[in-house]
Amino acid sequence: MTAHSGANPLRHIEPYPAQRYAPLADRLGGLLGTVNDVVLVQGEAIIALEAAATGLGAPGVRALNIVTSPYGRLFGDWLARGGAEVRTLTAAAGLPIDADEVRAAFAAGDTPDLVALVHGEAASGILNPLEEIAAIARRAGALVVVDAVASVGGHPLDVDELGADVVVIGPQKALGGPASLSAASVSPRAWEAFERNATGIPSVLSLLDIKRGWIDTGRGALPGTPDPLSFWALEAAVAAVEDEGMPALIRRHARAAAATRAGVRALGVTPWMTDDARALNLVTTVPVPDGVTAASLLARARELDPSVTPGVGAVADRILRLNHTADRAAFSPVLATVVAYGEALAGSGIGVDIGSAAAAVSERYARG
Ligand SMILES: Cc1ncc(COP(=O)(O)O)c(C=O)c1O
Repeated sequence: MTAHSGANPLRHIEPYPAQRYAPLADRLGGLLGTVNDVVLVQGEAIIALEAAATGLGAPGVRALNIVTSPYGRLFGDWLARGGAEVRTLTAAAGLPIDADEVRAAFAAGDTPDLVALVHGEAASGILNPLEEIAAIARRAGALVVVDAVASVGGHPLDVDELGADVVVIGPQKALGGPASLSAASVSPRAWEAFERNATGIPSVLSLLDIKRGWIDTGRGALPGTPDPLSFWALEAAVAAVEDEGMPALIRRHARAAAATRAGVRALGVTPWMTDDARALNLVTTVPVPDGVTAASLLARARELDPSVTPGVGAVADRILRLNHTADRAAFSPVLATVVAYGEALAGSGIGVDIGSAAAAVSERYARG
């Protein structure tokens, strides 16, 4: 096919019909277990996150912002930029927050108007105790704002059961969809907060403007010029998730994480996040041993499995990430990634038992 043949499917995209946006948003709401409004954001998830923080951060708003990665740090900065008074609770580098610290923050200070946190961190492979934190916040009447980009599809996320007020998701991780779009569920209480903070100046960084331009006008065509390719891709991803079933998708990620962790342990290595219950099901972070550089270990691992990536954030030089997200949450990629890490360790002069690791992965998968 040449650029001039006229047959390139990427150049002749069917328009995405206006009447499909509302059902698509409802289907996303179904996957999230919420009857709250779901707004479709025509940009990658970081845009939906900045829009959420921009609409919630205003003078007079007191926010408790939980920081477990650069994303949480940014969210707090955006809240503060809008004039909110932001109290920051920072976890130990690369580790989840302890719910007791959140409890103590509520007991010690003025009750915040909102609590913001990242549910799962792909940067460090950890899972924050969202259920406990949401319960603490709800009891105190604070809004619960969640970045669930790296957890949706890999962990249970029942938005209405949690009472989460703003939940931002992106389809590009466990849902196996495009990175060009994102979505946010917004509770009635949260819309009231957005309304209170409204500036009157239209903005592409405004979830409220999407509500006004789309939901309040009957949920027909989205404002602006939506990219049809992205919406077709999102619809295909949602259909695939519905076919598999959200609980089955979550179980598939949990199984991949369990097999990866069993394999790493059989190598004789302790995963970075020692507590299985606080480990992310999308990626497993593994340590870089003393005396070995992350760059050299990564280069060796990538010779066998290019999907191994460096850590991100405060512990970037101490961890590597083994990716078992979406299609990779399956036996072959899990086996390959554990063996690649094992070979990289062996090549760095660390004594590891790769045969046992492979057996542990198989055994975990054989168990079902
Ligand atoms: C927790 C979290 N939030 C947001 C994002 C989206 O950010 P980015 O633009 O870096 O992909 C990601 C992506 O990795 C993420 O893991």
